[in-house]
This record gives sequence, structure tokens and C-alpha cells, in this order.
Amino acid sequence: MLVNRQFCRLFKLTAFARPQIRLISAWKNVPAGPPDAILGITEAFKADSFEEKINLGVGAYRDDTGKPYVLPSVKEAELRLVQKQLDKEYAGITGVPAFTKLAATLAYSPSSAALKEDRVVITQSISGTGALRIGGEFLAKWYPFEKTIYVPTPTWANHGAVFKDSGLMVKSYRYYDKGTISLDIDGMIEDLSAAPENSIILLHACAHNPTGVDPTPEQWQAISKVIKSRDHFCFFDMAYQGFASGDTDKDAYALRYFVEQGHQLVLAQSFAKNMGLYGERVGAFSLVVDSAEEKKRVDSQLKIIVRPMYSNPPVHGARIASEILGDEQLNAQWLTEVKAMADRIIEMRFLLKKHLEDLGSARDWSHITSQIGMFCYTGLTPQQVATLRAEYSVYMTNDGRISVAGITTKNVK
Ligand SMILES: Cc1ncc(COP(=O)(O)O)c(C=O)c1O
Repeated sequence: MLVNRQFCRLFKLTAFARPQIRLISAWKNVPAGPPDAILGITEAFKADSFEEKINLGVGAYRDDTGKPYVLPSVKEAELRLVQKQLDKEYAGITGVPAFTKLAATLAYSPSSAALKEDRVVITQSISGTGALRIGGEFLAKWYPFEKTIYVPTPTWANHGAVFKDSGLMVKSYRYYDKGTISLDIDGMIEDLSAAPENSIILLHACAHNPTGVDPTPEQWQAISKVIKSRDHFCFFDMAYQGFASGDTDKDAYALRYFVEQGHQLVLAQSFAKNMGLYGERVGAFSLVVDSAEEKKRVDSQLKIIVRPMYSNPPVHGARIASEILGDEQLNAQWLTEVKAMADRIIEMRFLLKKHLEDLGSARDWSHITSQIGMFCYTGLTPQQVATLRAEYSVYMTNDGRISVAGITTKNVK
């Protein structure tokens, strides 16, 4: 109204001569979307005034005082970067070369034949989510067979949307058995065998989110076999390397085994959890291809995908990660810190199970300690989750998933 009057005064218009103001918003038909399930929990948690409330919804590491944790190796790397007085020029389209080289070595191992033969194409990405998106876009554009990706049931809540928005069809394969609270290996093998040949299969490399249930090495071998027999294509999502077991090599077992077995595959990496670089958005997307010549062609197309999306990635986080991965002493320090984070989570799993047993629970809670990584699928029903929230101020997602990182020696009991 104010703008309207000023406008009229300015142009000496009478009320009669006022131009018609467009009153209909362009967005009037935009429906409200559903709130993010996990952020909703955080909101409810914040509004709860109970002092001993516990938030087991967030997927970020907390120390034993329940606080966010900046790794000392990250602090040291940042100090060194400040001392170097680096400029703030743009990175290339595929990011900071020192970072992508080191990220590939961390994932595929220094002895990887694919790396030695110059058959790994890699680009920096906006953390793991960005890597998944670049991968989705690349496959939607260039995968020569039916563009359908099979994801496990359940899977990380964002997978479906990322791949759908990239232009892929999303279908699922059985993964988790609610009855046994463990891997449904028979169901998984059956579904992978039944999927049309050349399907794209999403595999969580380690610390499956949300279940915390990973295949054993023998089960990975069986999975590899069926994938090979159907000529499927593997898309590895490795968001937790080192964070699962405390050992970056052990957590890369499945990926490296599949490369050795000659699978065609792509990989999304994230440094959010294992370096605690959540908000810095550090990640990488890579493809293992047939030859150095093929690498050049694929690399050029990756650039064509990245350029219109965000031109080039941010440099600071990638510099932190390269400083750590590229310096022997800092790298060794980081590995002990990753292990300490993983060990704290493993210890909290043991304590939680022990307290439940000490309190006389007759239920079998062994899955709490057999599952791996940040999350534990407790097996609690939505009703039990609601009771815990309403009567005890313990917050978790409705599917009974808890972030074990939210448990401390003080609140576990
Ligand atoms: C399985 C999985 N993939 C990818 C991501 C992506 O995380 P970010 O984009 O923060 O690296 C996550 C984060 O929780 C995850 O759990």
C-alpha cells in the first residue's frame, strides 16, 4: 500500500488514474512441502525444557560431553593454511588437484592398480550429497542401458530424491530384515538376481545408514558374484570411511574388493564424518574406467556436468583435507582421531546394551553392538519411540534409529 501511494505521488497520479497493481503472487499455487523429518526432531528437542533431554536424531558426531567436535588435526591444518597466506582464486571445475589425488588414494589404496594405470576419473564435490548428485547426473546422461538405480530398503533418506532429481528411475532391493534385525542377505541376492541385466546398484560401502548393518566380507563376495553374473553397475556411497571401524583400510574393503574383481563402478566420498568437516562440504566423485584414454573423455564430460551446476567447488575444506592427507605426521594424527571417534561410539554401544541388560530387559539387544557406524536401528516401534519422547525426553526418528554419537557416559543410564 505504502509503495502504491508513493508511486502515485511520484508520478502525480490521482486515485482514479492509478495503474492496476498486480496482486496475484506468482507463488500462490505452491503447496507447502512436508517438513524434514530429522530437522523436525531437532525443533521438538529444542522446545523441550527437561534438563536431561537427549537428542539421538542428529547424524553428527558429538564428544563425551555431548558437544560438536572439531578434530585437533583439522585445527592444526587450518593453522598451517593461515600461515601459508594462500590466495582465494577459483579452483578448477573439478576442484583442488592435490585434494582429489589424495582422496582417490585414501579410497582405492596407494597400491591400487586402477590408480597406477591412470584409470580413475575424479572430481571434487559438494560433500557426499554433491558427489551422489554428480554421479546421478552423469549416469542419467551417459549410462548406455536402462537408467534405473536400485537402492537398499531402507536407505539414507536423501538417496531417492537425489537420484530422482538427477533423472534416474529409483527402485529398491531388500536389505534389512526387521524380524531378525540383521541383513536380509537372501532377499538381497534374490532381488539383485531378479533385476534386469545392467541395472545400477547403489551400495553403502560401510556403516549402512540408517541400519548400521553391513555385509560380512563373505557376504560382499556373494554380492559381487551376483552383480557380476547380471552385469550390473555399482554405485558405491562411502560417507563413513574410517568412521565405522576406526580403520580407513578396513572400511574400504568392499570398494577395493569390487575394483579388484573388475567391476565397473563409481564412488561418492564424503569427508563430513571422518574429518568432522560437515559444513565445509568436502567430497569427491570418481569413476573407475577402462583406460587412460577413456579417462580423458569421461573427465571432459564431468566438467560439462559440473560447470552449469556450480562452476567450481569451494577451496577451504579441500585444502584442510589435503593438508591432513598429504602430511605424514598430520595424517597419522588424524587416523588416531578417527579411531578415537569410532571407539567412543563402539563403547557407547556396549554401555547402552549393558545397562539395558542390567536393568533386566529380557529382549535380545545384541544388534546394538553388532551394528556398525554412527547409527543403530534399535528395533523400537513408532509407538515406543513416541513414548520415549513424551515421557522421557529421548528423541529419535520414528523408525527407531538412534545416532549413537548422541550417547555419552553421563546420559547413557
Ligand atoms: C549414506 C550417506 N550418504 C551420503 C551422505 C552425505 O553427507 P554429506 O553430504 O554431508 O557429505 C550421508 C550423510 O548423512 C549419508 O549418511
